Amino acid sequence: MNPMVGFAVKAARRAGDIINRAAENIEQLKIQHKTKNDLVSEVDHAAEAEIINSLQKTYPDHAFLAEESGRIGESDYEWIIDPLDGTTNFLHGFPVYAVSIALAYKKQLQVAVVYDPCRNDLFTASRGAGAYLNEKRIRVSKRDKLIDCLIGTGFPFKANSDVDSYGEMFKSLALKTAGIRRPGAAALDLANVAAGRLDGFWEIGLSPWDMAAGALLIKEAGGLVGDLDGEPQYMDSGKIVAGNPKIFAQLLSTLRPHVRNLKN
Ligand code: IPD
Ligand code: CA
Ligand code: CA
Repeated sequence: MNPMVGFAVKAARRAGDIINRAAENIEQLKIQHKTKNDLVSEVDHAAEAEIINSLQKTYPDHAFLAEESGRIGESDYEWIIDPLDGTTNFLHGFPVYAVSIALAYKKQLQVAVVYDPCRNDLFTASRGAGAYLNEKRIRVSKRDKLIDCLIGTGFPFKANSDVDSYGEMFKSLALKTAGIRRPGAAALDLANVAAGRLDGFWEIGLSPWDMAAGALLIKEAGGLVGDLDGEPQYMDSGKIVAGNPKIFAQLLSTLRPHVRNLKN
């Protein structure tokens, strides 16, 4: 195993322990509203501090981009961290959330770890070496007709979101697929595409820490990831489409007519 994956796994499991302990007493947690519908708890902060401290011990010169701390340091090596993806689910005791850690070198994703502490599912990947779930190789699904596919998504929920255009996209896809799911943790949704549990995924309005690890997992599992034009700028735009290579183009062509109506 790439040693960097090993250190990321160690950090993710430590964060997972913090999250699991806190899940036993959710009512007692201090919660803040970052903006309307966007919550952060002391668990998000504690898990993030644990991940950064743990990685900094091994890689003191690396930079970090973490959801709660922002950017720390400058380096060609940047760890991109979502300490608790699916905070709203977590705070409701809805057991769909994950820790997401990725490493980029000169902006190119090298290492990915997504850890689901509820199921003890560990997704890992490193560039060129494949993707794994609990140390077993995973691959994207083989379905080739959209009508047979289960597609994941995330609903827009922040003020000023493109709810109308999203609604049009949703309607087009809902009628053309076997079903659409909104589990509530984008990093885990993407990991589930890598594992073939979902055939595809799309969301608009994500941040780099929601996508980085999941995107590398999908690529290493043989899938495709892009923005709404299929281009690689999804980390900048926050608009992501992913899927197995047989349905990726079908997903894009179904979504594309609604892209021009997007406000953001
Ligand atoms: C959120 C989750 C959710 C997605 C949101 C994200 P957070 O992350 O990934 O599924 O729809 O856009 O912000 O805030 O729980 O880390
Ligand atoms: Ca997130
Ligand atoms: Ca988060």
